[in-house]
Amino acid sequence: MDAKALQALLETALSAVDTATDLASLESVRVAYLGKKGQLTAHLKSLGGLDPDARRALGASINQVKTQLVEALNTKEQAFRAAALAEALEHDRVDVTLPGRSAPVGGQHPVSRTLDRIIDLFTRLGFQTATGPEIETDYYNFEALNFPAHHPARAMHDTFYLPDGRLLRTHTSPVQIRVLENQAPPVRIIAPGRVFRADSDQTHTPQFHQVEGLVVDRGITFADLKGLLSEFVNAFFEQDLEIRLRPSYFPFTEPSAEVDVRWHDQAGNPSGWLEVLGCGMVHPNVLKHCQVDPEIYSGYAFGLGVERFAMLRYQVNDLRLFYDNDLRFLAQFR
Ligand code: FA5
Ligand code: MG
Repeated sequence: MDAKALQALLETALSAVDTATDLASLESVRVAYLGKKGQLTAHLKSLGGLDPDARRALGASINQVKTQLVEALNTKEQAFRAAALAEALEHDRVDVTLPGRSAPVGGQHPVSRTLDRIIDLFTRLGFQTATGPEIETDYYNFEALNFPAHHPARAMHDTFYLPDGRLLRTHTSPVQIRVLENQAPPVRIIAPGRVFRADSDQTHTPQFHQVEGLVVDRGITFADLKGLLSEFVNAFFEQDLEIRLRPSYFPFTEPSAEVDVRWHDQAGNPSGWLEVLGCGMVHPNVLKHCQVDPEIYSGYAFGLGVERFAMLRYQVNDLRLFYDNDLRFLAQFR
């Protein structure tokens, strides 16, 4: 191969580079000349057969040609890439003035928020959290709570029974028994959870939530209960709402009371009273059922209706709204 032939090869190669229309055809030009079986590569390989002087001279020329070709290839490649980028920038242009497409964000259900808030407040007052099953036996839901069989107070709980005789717990009070069976006083717990009653109107739903409270120790009095409840109610509502303690009856407490909070109507004027919780001093029979000596220990218990607290806090006048799953209603509580 002489200098002329080499020059001719370079020119053909450069014009192939020139006429390449895209990156792919440019790549085939590169392979045709510089690839393993490329033309220029073949010439470089053939140098081995020459004597040293000729090899040096021709080698230098071939390398020069190679350098020029590589440069031409690179320049062309960069031109293609720049063109592709410019095209993409033009084409895929982002219009930053378009309004964003936001993903809808859910919110916590108002009853869950209320429940969390109640648990949080009692936790700060030194209460530990206990739980019990939603499907209960007659023993825990009634018997151990001093409702003997056929006791008329059982009729106050519109109970859902299972075919096997078990039942959906009508209140969280069975957790009192489960805790006292397993833990010696001092006891200071709350038991939040779902409860069930065949009951439905503006202030009742068949499934609702209660938070039970139980404190058993030496020297616990009704004054402790009253102090705790007014502390809690004020902290929960963050305002001094009008509350009243009304004498009541539960088989498992003596004396017993119910706490009502003053409702306000749409115009903000005080109207009726809404019962939010039941409470009392733990009945000696309940302590005895759990091997706790009522001569040594006394205690108080309460069971509050979570939905009722949510109604008052959010000024919702129909409890059933919480369970209709109407997003227009729920979205207001985010
Ligand atoms: C009880 O369930 C007793 N276990 C409470 C108790 C516990 C008393 C410990 C003494 C000691 P009562 O049936 O009144 O009591 O229910 C307690 C609270 O649950 C009521 O004050 C009310 O706030 C709420 N509640 C009752 N029934 C419903 C219902 N169907 N829907 C929504 N909330 C209800
Ligand atoms: Mg009641």
